[in-house]
Amino acid sequence: MSEPAPFLVDEADVPALHQAVSGIGRAGYCEAAVRDRLGLEDITELHWRNLPIYRDERMVVRDPLALAIDLFLLQGTLTMDEVDRLLPASSRDVLLKTGLLEIDEAGRARVRASLFPIGGRRLIFSDHAWPELPYPGCATVPYDQVMAVGLDSRHLARVTSRKNVRSALDVCTGSGVHALLAASHAQRVCAVDISPRAVRCTRFNALAQGAANLEVLEGDLFDPVRGECFDLITANPPFVPSPVNALQFRDGGSTGEDIQKRIVAGLPDHLAPSGMAQLVTELGERDGEPITDRLRKWLAGAPMDIYVLRVAIHTAAQYAIGHAKGDDYGTFLDSVRAWAGNLRAQGYVRVVSVLVSFQWSSPASSPPWERIYESRPPQRSAGGEIEAAFIAERLARNPELRQHLEGKWLHLADPIALFDASVLGGSIPPKTKATRLGQALSIEHELELVERHVLARMEGRVTVSDLLRLCGEFDAQEAVVIEVIRSLLRRRLASIEVSLGEPTEAR
Ligand SMILES: C[S@@+](CC[C@H](N)C(=O)[O-])C[C@H]1O[C@@H](n2cnc3c(N)ncnc32)[C@H](O)[C@@H]1O
Repeated sequence: MSEPAPFLVDEADVPALHQAVSGIGRAGYCEAAVRDRLGLEDITELHWRNLPIYRDERMVVRDPLALAIDLFLLQGTLTMDEVDRLLPASSRDVLLKTGLLEIDEAGRARVRASLFPIGGRRLIFSDHAWPELPYPGCATVPYDQVMAVGLDSRHLARVTSRKNVRSALDVCTGSGVHALLAASHAQRVCAVDISPRAVRCTRFNALAQGAANLEVLEGDLFDPVRGECFDLITANPPFVPSPVNALQFRDGGSTGEDIQKRIVAGLPDHLAPSGMAQLVTELGERDGEPITDRLRKWLAGAPMDIYVLRVAIHTAAQYAIGHAKGDDYGTFLDSVRAWAGNLRAQGYVRVVSVLVSFQWSSPASSPPWERIYESRPPQRSAGGEIEAAFIAERLARNPELRQHLEGKWLHLADPIALFDASVLGGSIPPKTKATRLGQALSIEHELELVERHVLARMEGRVTVSDLLRLCGEFDAQEAVVIEVIRSLLRRRLASIEVSLGEPTEAR
């Protein structure tokens, strides 16, 4: 057992720390290399139960990448000879001096915090993902454990808009992962966390990365940035509806909403007029109550558009069992009872993992709208697709759409996979589902029969007049066709072209 990492560095050692982290990156340690080396479809599949398989099947050759993965991600130990092959002396020394690297009496080296690769080239220090493994072996994980770069962190990072902006804010920053990612496309970034340990970790990461445009502030949500507005706001708050308050990064009160509802309520005061706020969270669902009703209530009438991606659904029972703890049957079952009882008390029948994006509503497309789609979690960057979804929705809501389409081409946002299900017997009409291929988000859209016909007639490119004439062949009224075009544009299955020139995607 060893102390957790202090996340402190002397000023004089900052250049060497920066060099050490850059050197580990240059040795090829990044998200894609880890995924490929461990034979994963996505790095989010990484799991401690597979550790023997990774080590015995994928890391037998102890090259620098295997050594970096073992030491910095899998909580493994290296021999001193392996440390020397992985790290130059200056890197080893600075990691020892900061207390990140430790060498036990048997001469085996371990780290007190993991170094998580995220995206193309970021490496983020945080507390270990599996603190209860024999090493470091915490019997009770400390309340202020800094959250590892986990599934939710990666999902939020992938849907975050990566437009160049003036200012970005990451609330509930933890290790600072989203603030550090934003530091490469925002002129100025603020990162806020209430936990002094998380603040230390984020500052440590900013120094290790040389992110001079990142300011790290300790405080309660928006308190440290009162009166300021930002072009990009990101948040991965504690959101778990929990019968206990054991982990500051996880537990969101018995409803799960204690922190997240205050974040949503704070957006109107802190989101710049053309900004984007993005949140990863879980929400308990009650039958017959759309989750967007709750988001609207928290916004208290502020006119914002809301785009929700449901990326995973857990029944209340699955959720309770997943969170229950106990070393023996009796304790474990008591814990299941407590978690399940809490969800029942809230009326939650399931808990959904969602990625929610907010923008101020534009007067031209008012009233404010909300859309809920289901997608597999993205395995790569999807920020551009989220931005495009807001633009498409506004375009589709243009009351003058018919006139707007004059002199423009309409075409399929190709390629699109269509799944036609013919139903034998009875009078149920055939069902069609359409999915736009080549996207990071895989959203299946159900199509009405008339929508399927109109979509088919957009292969190649057509003007709106052509389309109306073609649709006349199956007796579709002009108003119906225009509504279908709206629906296809909204779902980005169809695009419009600016002029009667070459088609490009209307975003
Ligand atoms: C789920 S973790 C997210 C960490 C990181 N952003 C990520 O995505 O990996 C939530 C973080 O919120 C912080 N937190 C909890 N309550 C807070 C509050 N009232 N104000 C600011 N931060 C808070 C916790 O300390 C924790 O670091």
